[in-house]
Amino acid sequence: MLLNLKSIMELAEEKNIAIGTFNGPNFESIKAVINAAEELDQPVVLTHAQLHEDWGLCRIDEIGPIMLFMAKKASVPVCVHLDHGTDLDYVKKGLDIGFTSVMYDGSELSLEQNVENTKKVVEMAARTGASVEAEVGSMGARDMGKGDGGEGSIYTDPDVAKWFVEQTGVDALACAFGSVHGLYMKEPKLDFDLIRRIKAKIDVPIVMHGGSGVSDEDYRNVIKAGVRKINYYTYMGKAGANAVSEMKDKTYFHDMAHTAELAMKENVKRIIKVFSNL
Ligand code: 13P
Repeated sequence: MLLNLKSIMELAEEKNIAIGTFNGPNFESIKAVINAAEELDQPVVLTHAQLHEDWGLCRIDEIGPIMLFMAKKASVPVCVHLDHGTDLDYVKKGLDIGFTSVMYDGSELSLEQNVENTKKVVEMAARTGASVEAEVGSMGARDMGKGDGGEGSIYTDPDVAKWFVEQTGVDALACAFGSVHGLYMKEPKLDFDLIRRIKAKIDVPIVMHGGSGVSDEDYRNVIKAGVRKINYYTYMGKAGANAVSEMKDKTYFHDMAHTAELAMKENVKRIIKVFSNL
């Protein structure tokens, strides 16, 4: 069933868990995510990132309706979310297609400009009942292929987070506390105390990006500290690729795609179990 992010976050808050948020850049990854969530009977967030189009993958108007179709027929709550929308026109496109949540990422702009644009997104989303996530602070490079190992990170200031949420009325806030997108160049050092200090100041759920490569213990600790949504994709994509590279017979692409789907599903199931305390 299709839900917006706000409703899914309420389920997370009730149970003190984090909802896994996974990219669906093609049909196999969409199926992997939804089937994993259904097999564990857990809610999930399925995302399309604006960046996928730069990689030459499916466009939002092509893959978006498929994501929505799969979400509607799922037996578990699924939110269809735009990840790291950096252009207002692109965010609008997602809302017009029917996405139930959008992330506007103005983290590379001045704080004032980030607030101004995020307010416009909140207004647009209110017309369709979609939820809005925004980002304060910065996790550095957005591109998992060009992860900067956290060098470009600017940790979120709890007072700024509070001000930003009050100014914009967002439903969830992505915060920087030591996680980075893509492959870690060195072991991540997450600032759990910072998460607690942000949580004490804001009344909307905290989102962690760059979920791949974090230990199970650290996942449990960020959730205990207050994180309610964890974005995870790099290791899921790698799990699919590793399974294909181990195949003896690579004659047909459909077999490779199916093998990747099953491996991604198992990877997602393992992570959902940790996030949901199962
Ligand atoms: P990883 O690919 O590092 O798991 O991060 C995903 C993410 O944060 C997408 O927004």
